[in-house]
Amino acid sequence: MKALLLAGGLGTRLRPLTERLPKPMAPVVNRPWLEHLILHLKSQGISEFVIAVKHNADIIRKHFEDGCKFGVRIEYSQEPELLGTAGAIKHAEQLLTDRFIVVNADIINHVELLPLLEFHQTNGALVTIGLTEVEDPSHYGVVQQTMSGRIIRFVEKPPRHAAPSNRINAGIYVMEKEALKWIPAGREVSIERETFPTLIRKGFPVYGWLVRGYWLDMGTLDRYLALHRDVLDGKCALQPSYPAQKEGIWTGEDIDISDDVTLVPPVVIGNGVKVGRGCVVGPYTVLGDKVTVEPGSSCSHSVVLPGARLEGNRTISNAIVGPDFSVEVQSPVYEAKKKVVHR
Ligand code: GDD
Ligand code: MG
Repeated sequence: MKALLLAGGLGTRLRPLTERLPKPMAPVVNRPWLEHLILHLKSQGISEFVIAVKHNADIIRKHFEDGCKFGVRIEYSQEPELLGTAGAIKHAEQLLTDRFIVVNADIINHVELLPLLEFHQTNGALVTIGLTEVEDPSHYGVVQQTMSGRIIRFVEKPPRHAAPSNRINAGIYVMEKEALKWIPAGREVSIERETFPTLIRKGFPVYGWLVRGYWLDMGTLDRYLALHRDVLDGKCALQPSYPAQKEGIWTGEDIDISDDVTLVPPVVIGNGVKVGRGCVVGPYTVLGDKVTVEPGSSCSHSVVLPGARLEGNRTISNAIVGPDFSVEVQSPVYEAKKKVVHR
């Protein structure tokens, strides 16, 4: 069985991070999220992937190539223009198996595939949608289910008062290839706004299964920052890929940190990082590979992307910093507002 990863979107809510990077390639504790996702699905028994790409596709292709170096096989389905979430699946039809898995590649969840597949099989479902529960479902696809888990209504991003429940589409589906008959070819089609409602209206067996554990859509700046906080708090099954030097301090190789620097855990320091005299780094801070922090600066509750340079004598807090931008987010909570964008 193959997994199709939807990774072609523009990632507008994660700009400026996604101006040069496809959203799923945004690093999560210094490793592209898509890599974490593929390795997790591999651990669940999936060895063949199709990645549906469009925006900045070359970066994904160059990183993964044919998947060999990650111990999996990867093919690409390149859309001529953005075809929407169902259009992208239809476009990949020739590459898919009779039963396949679809994952929105910006979703952080360590889904357990076996119980999901068993549930799908037992119910003879055409589609099984992984679900999760959130407090405010208005940013997501919301479902109404029967006691047996069958979905009788799917409504995408309803106003909060009109949401039929707080169970939402977690962005993970098991699908039978027959379902693709109901997706028109050659035009933009949204699985959430068009395909799921059509299948449900026609009486096809569409089921919903609650995924376990940590779940987050990392597609906004504030959620991206909140995700790092959660990872460093150990709320999510993701670990920095470096050894922990001390409790809550992870450091990569070839680092150059002045003796008088204060590292406040939790903090992750990538490979080749330089931190100058008198700096304070942390808590809740991730410095990407080859980041430079010039003397006298402090940086907390922030993610600094590979290659970025923090000028000396500055205080950075609740920020995402790239080589050519710095975005301050009011506070690392989900609904925080973007405050300043320096370009
Ligand atoms: N190839 C391709 N082509 N990929 C696409 C396209 C497209 O036209 N449009 C979106 N994608 C990819 C995005 O890159 C992303 O990884 C995934 O599909 C979902 O798109 P988002 O733009 O992130 O959607 P969303 O977060 O607003 O809503 C979706 O995810 C929610 C869960 O986080 C919906 O599926 C909701 O129903 C769901 O609750
Ligand atoms: Mg999303």
